[in-house]
Amino acid sequence: MRWAPRDVDPVATFAHVPTECLALPADPARRLSVEVGRAAFRTPVLLGGQAARAGVNCETCHKAGRSNPTFLFPGVSGAPGTADVTDSLFSTHRGDGIDNPKPIPDLSGPKTRLKVDQSRANSRLEYFIHGLVTEEFDGPEPPKAVLAGLADYVRALSPAACPKAATEPLSVAYFLTDARRAIAAANGELAAGDGPAAVLMLASARTRLGLIDERFAGPALSPSRQQIRAADRRLADLQDAIRAHRPDVTARLDGWLSDSRRLEAQLSAKAAASLFNPARLTQAARRRLPG
Ligand code: HEC
Repeated sequence: MRWAPRDVDPVATFAHVPTECLALPADPARRLSVEVGRAAFRTPVLLGGQAARAGVNCETCHKAGRSNPTFLFPGVSGAPGTADVTDSLFSTHRGDGIDNPKPIPDLSGPKTRLKVDQSRANSRLEYFIHGLVTEEFDGPEPPKAVLAGLADYVRALSPAACPKAATEPLSVAYFLTDARRAIAAANGELAAGDGPAAVLMLASARTRLGLIDERFAGPALSPSRQQIRAADRRLADLQDAIRAHRPDVTARLDGWLSDSRRLEAQLSAKAAASLFNPARLTQAARRRLPG
């Protein structure tokens, strides 16, 4: 809410997201790569410095792989929907001292309207995204599979893959589905022997839990928050287990995946009392403090 103009319609802006225009490749290896990129796209842990601390991730500006016409970040945006990606707030490398916010492009728009060549042959897209992550957003060097995944994810976005509905409501199920996809991608990377990529995938699942948690605000929902946080702690422990090369991680991740179904049912049953409920969200938006 802090990163949007005060006069936006809260239900349209914070309770709905654009639908994703993603064409998943049939080839299993390519599909895993797209899923890895999709998860990395959705966690600030990919980035470093101010962006990560603020909770900014690729999806903050490219909602569901598209754009974000209401994005308004103090010191980074000009008009809503623009960002200065050479802003020194996010970058110690790229700050150019010039205020030059640009419109956030729709990454799911026609490829001919995009500036960066996406052909696999020349890796321009990988080069561009590498610069974004490590220079613009001061992030650490991403695992190779993650960089390749981000590029493959962007390549797999296309107007032809857009669902009929332009937007969809946010829900517990929406975020937990993302979390499960990220964990499935973690299992894929573990099978390929890439621990660091798997750890980042778990970070993405944890980010999605965080987005549920922040909507389960208020004392009455404290038991639900404890459930969310217990699920999160399990993932944090699993990140440590991956770093320690423990052999039982895949089985434990599978356990998390199956338990997440019950968590989803329990949280969904309480969602009417949370900010997933448009009426409650509208009330909360009205109480928003200035600045
Ligand atoms: C603070 C908002 C913001 C964030 C966060 C952000 N982007 Fe962007 N992105 C932009 C803007 C603005 C442009 C257009 C820059 C320009 O025109 O020079 C852009 C351009 C791009 C392009 C090039 C589009 C083209 O025209 O070819 C790609 C690809 C892209 N972003 C991917 C990403 C990825 C991947 C991440 C996460 C690592 C990310 N973006 C994070 C705002 C953002």
